[in-house]
Amino acid sequence: MNHKPLVEKAREAARGAYAPYSRFRVGCAIESVDGKVALGANMENACYRLGTCAEIAALAAAAQAFGLERIARIAVAGGHFGTDGALAGAAIVTPCGGCRQAILEAAQLAGRDIEVISANGDGTEAATRRISELIPWGFGPANLADAGA
Ligand code: THU
Repeated sequence: MNHKPLVEKAREAARGAYAPYSRFRVGCAIESVDGKVALGANMENACYRLGTCAEIAALAAAAQAFGLERIARIAVAGGHFGTDGALAGAAIVTPCGGCRQAILEAAQLAGRDIEVISANGDGTEAATRRISELIPWGFGPANLADAGA
């Protein structure tokens, strides 16, 4: 599977970032099993701890566009805007622990492992891992089965 087009969408989505405090712009592109794409970017806040990650914004957009249970792949990229106006950055961006937990929720809902593509801002490097690798032995909706609801 060629991840480049989805990575480019994630880099483009970083345009929508609001990151005046960290100055680290992150974009996320989520693709459904039938090829639809939802986008998100990080959104910071003067009350720092209220900032949200690009992945969470994109998951909310995906829930609206096609449903969390139809997610197949997620691409993330981050960095700053270079003089040419494109996203730039050397290091690949892997989802934080909280975002891994949110992606796991979608994966368990679907009964499908989700591919996570972590790209650098330059768009020149990427590493792909399944969410089951990124958050092994995680707690998810399946663990609530014994609640008797
Ligand atoms: N950030 C994301 O949006 N996604 C990640 O996977 C890592 C971190 C954001 C949060 C904050 O706005 C900025 O990057 C610096 O941590």
